[in-house]
Order: sequence, then structure tokens, then C-alpha cells
Amino acid sequence: MKKQLLVLLIALFIGFGANAQTKSSETNVLVLIYSQNGGTYKMAKAIAEGIQEYPNTKATLKRVPSINSKEKLNAEVEKLPVATIEELANYDGIAFGSPVHFANISADMNYFFSQSIPLWTSRALEGKPATVFMSAGSGAGKEAAILSFWNILASHGMVIVPTGIMGTATLDKTVPQGNTPFGATALTGSTGTRPSQSELNLAKEQGKALARVTAGLKNTENIKSVKTTSAETKTDINKTLKDNNIVLPEAPKPVGNYVPFTISDHKVYINQVALKDGKILNPGKVGATVTEDQAKEATYQTMLNVIAVLKEACGGDLNKVKQCVQLTGYFNTTPEYTQHAGLMNSASNLTALVFGEKGKHARATIGAVSLPINSAVEIQAIFEIE
Ligand SMILES: Cc1cc2nc3c(=O)[nH]c(=O)nc-3n(C[C@H](O)[C@H](O)[C@H](O)COP(=O)(O)O)c2cc1C
Repeated sequence: MKKQLLVLLIALFIGFGANAQTKSSETNVLVLIYSQNGGTYKMAKAIAEGIQEYPNTKATLKRVPSINSKEKLNAEVEKLPVATIEELANYDGIAFGSPVHFANISADMNYFFSQSIPLWTSRALEGKPATVFMSAGSGAGKEAAILSFWNILASHGMVIVPTGIMGTATLDKTVPQGNTPFGATALTGSTGTRPSQSELNLAKEQGKALARVTAGLKNTENIKSVKTTSAETKTDINKTLKDNNIVLPEAPKPVGNYVPFTISDHKVYINQVALKDGKILNPGKVGATVTEDQAKEATYQTMLNVIAVLKEACGGDLNKVKQCVQLTGYFNTTPEYTQHAGLMNSASNLTALVFGEKGKHARATIGAVSLPINSAVEIQAIFEIE
């Protein structure tokens, strides 16, 4: 009997401990919208309200940039902070909101996602919960529009949270409402009286549902990362390269009185520019003669060169890499340019993709007035090897 009591006390203690641990870390959910006239924004506020009703959960409301910078947005929408594509990886869950445009999502939201390739290849959004809500005019094509948004989220491996029949018990069925089993919508028409209270209630329920799933999955994160780490220690880097169609270039040869790498105390030191087939890829100044997409391509190529040199330093076996310690990216930019971090993500994401947990590194990015042979980028890398 005494023994049973002891077991019960231990179980209670462990249960209490686990609970206390869960409560200590806040769940962060992003509500990310595009909205021109404010319909999607009103739905977003209801979604955020639902999210915040869930214990220990914070909702952050942001918008994506407009493709057309001259476009006049609703005044309150205009004031929202603008999200970057990279920051999506920092949230535990995301609610996406867009107007219905020709039974599809808005071009602005679509363009935002067209920049998500680095997140996609590094699987940064995989397993994160996501949900979609929309604002429509008549509602024509609203469900098709949500489903077309789902295609993007599924491609990123996100866990999609639908609305099912939630909220229908309190729905005012005397007028058409924007309820769908996929996500809440508002039939804003041109009356200015929508979203209706029923639509806002539904959006709030959807927010709560997303928060519940997000909080639940967040608690499995540690388990997930433990599993990933142990699996990755066995991962063959050559297989990772092959599976991801990454072909390493020939390591560039030095053009002066120096060596392509040095090794000191198990650390390999490497510096590379954007050389490809003996020529600099996309040379010039970012913000003037080189576009951001070109600079990202050059950064990716530079990191490929770094890894090629690293392979030589490891005697041909990249499995000897223990850790990417630090990456420093120098970018040839105009003085007013500030988006260095976004460019450098091409190198960081490639490193994470190739080396997994061992690819996690400290990082610095710097703007430069010029770089050797007019390269748009130079990367300094430090790796630890066996
Ligand atoms: C280019 C364009 C296409 C649209 N296509 C549709 C449509 O297919 N179905 C619909 O119900 N409303 C459509 N609308 C109306 C918008 O979805 C509606 O005005 C919505 O509330 C806008 O959201 P916002 O207030 O957040 O900007 C369209 C509007 C525009 C500008």
C-alpha cells in the first residue's frame, strides 16, 4: 500500500513538473495577411483574438509587402509591420489571410511565397501548424481560393488546420455567411457591414483551433529534435548531397601566395568569392547593378565553393565535419542597402541542408564598398573537423 502511494506521489510530481515546464515557454503564432480594403484585416483581428484566448499564447499581426508600392492600402493595414519571408521560420504556427482574387489568393501573397525557396529547401516550415482565412466580395470561388493556398502550405510540409463545422451552431443562417469547412471567410460585398458577427465568431474559433494545435505540437519539438539529431549523426553527407541534387564544383585554386584553406586546432578556415567555371557569377553591386535574386544566386555559389574547399580539407570525406562554427558574409552593396541577412540566408540554408544539426552556425554579415574581382559576395567560413 505504502509502495502504491509512493508511486502515485512520484507520478503526480512528474506530471506537475511537465506541466510547469510547458507553461514556462510561450507559444508564438504569426497572423500574416495581405489586405487592401481592410476586410481580411478585420478577420485577422478576430483570428488573433482567438489565438490569444488560448493559454500562454501570443499572436503577432503582420502584413506582406504590396507588389505595387504605390497601391493605396486601408489606413490601419498600412500601419502593420511588414514581415520578411525568412521570419516565418521563427514562429510556432501561422495563420495566413488573403483577399479572394479571382477564386485564388492575392498576387501579393503569392509573390511573397515565391521567395520561400530557401525555407522550402531547408524544410524550415515542415511540421508547423498553419491555417487560412480570407475576405471575399460575393464569396464566388472562396473555397477554391483557400484550397489553392493550401497547395503552397502542403508544399512546405505544414500541418494544415481546417475549420470543419466549428462555429456553425451559432451561425446566423438567415443571410449567406462565409463559413467553409476549410477556413473562415467574410462576404464583404460592398455594404461595409461585413464581416458579420457570425464570420468574426468563426474566425475567432479558427484562431483558437490553430493555437490549440500549435501549443500541442510545440511540446513535441524537443522530442523531434532529439530524434533528428540521433538520426543525423548517422547521415552520410554524400547521400544528402545526392538526394538534394547538390553537385559540388571543383574547389577554386588560389591566385596568389596563399592556400585555399588552413587547419589549426581542428578548425578549417576558408574564404571564397562567387567563382563559377572560372568567372565571377553575377558580378557587381547589390542595390545598383545586381538584383537581390542575383546576389542570392552568387551567395549560394560562393557557399558551394566553400564546401568544395572544405571537402579537400577533410581529405575528401565531408562526414569528418563536426560543426560549422561561423560564417561571415561580405556583400558589395550601395551605402543605403540593409537586407544583407536575407542574402546570406542562401548560404546558411545550404549549410543547414547539407550538414543538418552540424550546420548550425554563428553568423555575421557586412556591407563593403568593393570586393575582389567585382564579386557581389565573399564568405569567410570556419568549420570544426575530426
Ligand atoms: C482583382 C480582384 C479579384 C477579385 N475576385 C474575387 C472573386 O473571385 N470572388 C469574390 O468573392 N471576390 C473577389 N474580389 C473581391 C475581394 O475579394 C474583396 O473585395 C475582398 O474583401 C478584399 O479583401 P480586403 O478587404 O482584405 O482587401 C476580387 C477583388 C479584386 C480586386
